[in-house]
Amino acid sequence: MTNGLEDVIAAETQLSDVDGEAGRLIIRGVSLDHLVADGTYEGVAALLLDGLMEKSFDEAELRALMAQARTRIFHHVDAALLTLPPFDAMRALLARLPDGEDLDTALSLLAAPAVFLPAVLRLQRGEKPIAPDASLAQSADILRMLTGKLPTREQTAALDTYLVTISDHGLNASTFASRVIASTQAGLTSSVLAALSALKGPLHGGAPGPVLDMLDAIGTAENAYSWLGEALDRGERLMGFGHRIYRVRDPRADALKGALKPLISTGQVNSARGTLAEAVEASALAILKARKPNRPLDVNVEFYTALLLEALGFPREAFTGVFAIGRTVGWLAHAREQALDGRLIRPRSVYIGPLPAAA
Ligand code: ACO
Repeated sequence: MTNGLEDVIAAETQLSDVDGEAGRLIIRGVSLDHLVADGTYEGVAALLLDGLMEKSFDEAELRALMAQARTRIFHHVDAALLTLPPFDAMRALLARLPDGEDLDTALSLLAAPAVFLPAVLRLQRGEKPIAPDASLAQSADILRMLTGKLPTREQTAALDTYLVTISDHGLNASTFASRVIASTQAGLTSSVLAALSALKGPLHGGAPGPVLDMLDAIGTAENAYSWLGEALDRGERLMGFGHRIYRVRDPRADALKGALKPLISTGQVNSARGTLAEAVEASALAILKARKPNRPLDVNVEFYTALLLEALGFPREAFTGVFAIGRTVGWLAHAREQALDGRLIRPRSVYIGPLPAAA
């Protein structure tokens, strides 16, 4: 047994499969590269939730239901939480939502991070939150609520690609947390809240902000190799590299790199950032190969997440919150799958402490 439970099978799922050796992600029978080609968040949400709620819906119906839910949720925005970092403010707002197992609860939870995060970010920079526009799809509305402007086609497509790409990913730490809570029948809000808390850590969803800090510190492509070597000498980990399951390149990294290209080619993003990132990626892969020859370490989803979300105008302290917007549907689908199975998750531990002294 290991502390990290690797290779332990803790659930059966029809939702997603991560093949770490082949670098392949399947979501409900569809491979990621197919899903991201023109895919929308509503489309992947309809796919993931299919058959798990009390009634069925297609992508168009779900789009309308999610838009109505965003409008309902906007009234829960509360400026009193402004002293908290954005992720913690979002978590606190979400914690106030009622619990339940029904579709209305699921829709509120899909809407909540999408509405709370832009509102909190605006309030923290002294601007008024912008109410949702129910005529828009979720990605376009998130960007509009953040910036006050209708996003371009390329920006909307890039955010959709991001949200689809990270919608579900096997039994990662936050999804496992969601399933554990669901197995106690506590309700969907409790499941999502637990998952959100698990996502926060830098070993899970908290890495993309530090990726940008690393790029800023490196500064130029020429500096990359020596900077990365010194970081490893100090015993640091290179943010955006390595994964518990993938032993090859994380397929999500390529999906996100692809989503950045139209923004660069249309001049909506400074191409210098992309050039620096590619140089850092190449240097990091070379140095990790030399320093850790027995551990295949490649780029993970967080590396290009950082560049994409920066390009879309999100501040780095909000990146983990945007991850939560996309992953909420995966947490919900897993929570429902677990709840329908009805079995309480209750593993055992091995006691290695002292025994009571004999009387
Ligand atoms: N930089 C340098 N060395 C690394 C890195 C890294 N990014 N990742 C793993 N290693 C090394 C470890 O130091 C260790 O070396 P050692 O055997 O010589 O001591 C070896 O690889 C194995 O490390 P573990 O911690 O056992 O690997 P684990 O499966 O737990 O790691 C993790 C997965 C946590 C993601 C790790 O690769 C990491 O810390 N990466 C940086 C943070 C990051 O990018 N997080 C986002 C992950 S993606 C996501 O969750 C959405």
